[in-house]
Amino acid sequence: GAPVEVDISALKEGEKITVEWRGKPVWILRRSKAEVEALAKHDGELADPESKRHPDEFTPPYARNEWRSIKPEILVVVGICPHLGCSPTDKFATGPQPSLPSDWAGGWLCPCHGSTFDLAGRVFKNKPSPDNLPVPPYMYLSDTRLLIG
Ligand code: FES
Repeated sequence: GAPVEVDISALKEGEKITVEWRGKPVWILRRSKAEVEALAKHDGELADPESKRHPDEFTPPYARNEWRSIKPEILVVVGICPHLGCSPTDKFATGPQPSLPSDWAGGWLCPCHGSTFDLAGRVFKNKPSPDNLPVPPYMYLSDTRLLIG
C-alpha cells in the first residue's frame, strides 16, 4: 500500500482521528501535556512499559520512549488489539468508570477480552494481549503534516 499523508493542523487536544493505511485503522491522538507527563507514573502496572517486546514489529526506534511517539503530544498507533484483532474502544475520560480501575488515567479497552491500554497504547499487565498497540512507520513532512507508511 501507498504511504498516507495526513494534515494534523486542525487536531485539537483530546481529539483522535482515524486514517486508513494498508487496510488498517491508524489512530492519531493529540494528548495534553498533563497526559504525557502522567504516562511516566504507572510503568509498574504495564506488561511492557519500555516497548521491548518485538520492537521491530511493534515499536520503531523513534517510538521507543515513554510516550511512544516522535512528538510527545502526538500519538500514532494502529488501532487493532494485538491479541486477536478486535478494535479497542476509546476510554479517554479519567477517573472511575465501569469495568476500569478507579484511578483510570485514560486509554483504551478492548471489548473482546478486556485488554486495557494506556494513552501511549501500552498494554496493562495480566491482560490477554502480550503486546502494546503497534506503532506504524511514520515521519513528519512538516510541523503539521504526517506521512504514514
Ligand atoms: Fe483484544 Fe482479545 S482481541 S483482548
